Amino acid sequence: MSKIAFFEVEEWEKPYLKEKLKGYNILFFNDTINKVNIDKFKDVDIISVFIYSKLDKVLINKFNNLKLIATRSTGFDHIDIQKCMENKVIVCNVPTYGENTVAEHTFALILNLTRKIHKAWERTRRLDFSQEGLRGIDLRGKTLGVIGVGSIGKHVIRMAKGFEMDVIAYDVFKVKGLERKFGFKYVSFDNLLKNSDIISLHCPYNKKTHHLINKNNIGKIKKGALLINTARGGLIETDALVKALDNGGLSGAGLDVLEGECFVKEDTQVMSKQFPKKCDMRIILEDHILAKMDNVIITPHNAFNSVEALQRILDTTVDNVKGFLKKKVVNKVDVGKYF
Ligand code: NAI
Repeated sequence: MSKIAFFEVEEWEKPYLKEKLKGYNILFFNDTINKVNIDKFKDVDIISVFIYSKLDKVLINKFNNLKLIATRSTGFDHIDIQKCMENKVIVCNVPTYGENTVAEHTFALILNLTRKIHKAWERTRRLDFSQEGLRGIDLRGKTLGVIGVGSIGKHVIRMAKGFEMDVIAYDVFKVKGLERKFGFKYVSFDNLLKNSDIISLHCPYNKKTHHLINKNNIGKIKKGALLINTARGGLIETDALVKALDNGGLSGAGLDVLEGECFVKEDTQVMSKQFPKKCDMRIILEDHILAKMDNVIITPHNAFNSVEALQRILDTTVDNVKGFLKKKVVNKVDVGKYF
């Protein structure tokens, strides 16, 4: 019978995986697979890892029977794919798990700000039921500006239409037919800044998008707009954000991600015990200022973190393992794209 070893598993994942893979020979380990413990696992057929198991050439060569690596992540740059190809080891990943989940969190932040839920909650906990200062605004008829119309951005647009909002969007790649399908309009970056009542970021963070919103362009944003960021902290220059919130350029911000966070490759990484906590002190201090502002809502990189999203990761992994065992491989990493 195939021997399957799961690494970097959390306690809550074990019973779920055991139940779903009943009848299989499964081993669970909280730690990574690494050069210190590899000798104990040389004879396993299938391994499932998260991103802290660095499966390089040397490690891959140490396995005698390895046939499948099922990574419980979207990214797979912790695995030497070339070596896997040479050794005929199949690699499967979890391509998607939380598109609607992050979009829902985006709206949680938006609605908290527009209806001042956070302020009302604080107040009623003190048994103060006054409404002073709690008047909100409607979403209906407001313009949402979505930056990055990818998997998450599309869900955000769909939800915005449910609130009868007008949606404009900026993306470096315009997809034909998408405007009609989802009921939005592609505009230029500057146009989006100028005309949105709420701006929501859903593009990747890279060299080109570093400080996409910065001190030179934050002043172009419609006065009093809200800025929502559930993508990556580095998309916004924190200094510029603090100033704009201070001078009323922005009336509020909803932030699930902060610039001071360490580099996050994979969102579920932030839940791992291995996630490094050392960050830039100046930015942390500014984030601290942000955390104290009553028109700013910060959540701790938690947008992906729903019961259903995390189960989808496990379910996909189970499908990947079962698919392999039944000779119907699913979610195989398309190496052809990379070599
Ligand atoms: P995606 O790859 O499906 O979509 C990204 C979109 O951004 C694409 O349409 C792309 O063309 C566009 N884009 C790229 N560069 C751009 C630029 N310079 N300006 C405007 N648009 C640009 O990605 P997906 O799945 O929608 O995720 C978006 C981001 O959300 C991810 O990059 C990730 O950083 C973040 N995320 C955050 C989570 C959280 O828990 N807070 C969870 C999952 C993702």
